Amino acid sequence: MVEYVNSLIDVSPRTAVVLGSGLGHFSEYVENQTSIPYAHIAGYPLSGVEGHSGEFVFGELGSEPVVVASGRFHMYEGYDLETVTLPVRFFHQLKVNNLIITNSAGSVRRRLEPGTLMMLNGHLDCTFRESSKMPDVVRGGEYHSSELLDRARAAARAEGIETAEGVYAWTLGPSYETPAEIEKIHELGGDAVGMSTVPEIRAAGKLGMRVLGISCLTNYAAGITDEPLTHEDVISVANRVSDKFTRLLKGTIESISSDLA
Ligand code: HPA
Repeated sequence: MVEYVNSLIDVSPRTAVVLGSGLGHFSEYVENQTSIPYAHIAGYPLSGVEGHSGEFVFGELGSEPVVVASGRFHMYEGYDLETVTLPVRFFHQLKVNNLIITNSAGSVRRRLEPGTLMMLNGHLDCTFRESSKMPDVVRGGEYHSSELLDRARAAARAEGIETAEGVYAWTLGPSYETPAEIEKIHELGGDAVGMSTVPEIRAAGKLGMRVLGISCLTNYAAGITDEPLTHEDVISVANRVSDKFTRLLKGTIESISSDLA
């Protein structure tokens, strides 16, 4: 896979961005693009969720060589952990050292309104795969790079974008949570809830990459309000804030360029 992709691109990316639901058009901003559909890479998995197209876009943002992955793999699609984290191991082999992972997530706190961009400063594994004990919040630079967080904070300030910071709780899905589950996640210290990102953060942290997660809070999680929750709303709120999200991502990546080699 690495050999094939390297034969098609001129510049090796240093920064990779994984796009979540409804954020697919960020890749339009990449300059000097080479797009490679996942389907062209022998052995690479294919993504099937609405709002994901399944391709890499290689190129530059500012002077930073990047790769943007639009379309990702979730456990609820039937993929195992190996497959879900394959993109991260692939990036590592391409010599990427900064990884920005985005997602859509439900807000577990009333003060975090739909449309908020939340940078991750911790995560919770609420899948109960490794243990049946209640999880603790995992924090620390290995999984939530303070350098990248600083870059993102500065980019948000420069762009006049209000952001939040908090803990992302990972659930398996595919159904949204019950109000009781959300109450528990709230109690455990979760601020947002979603079905992705934590496996990739773990894999990238273990490989020594710098990682930053950013959630677009698309809805209040179950039971926070009486509104029913739909995938259509998730996509439409993600689309509504995609301009803001794009500016935050661009600013963050461009500030990586010079001194975070
Ligand atoms: N729960 C889980 N995943 C999600 C949600 C949610 O409320 N919103 C977007 N992705």
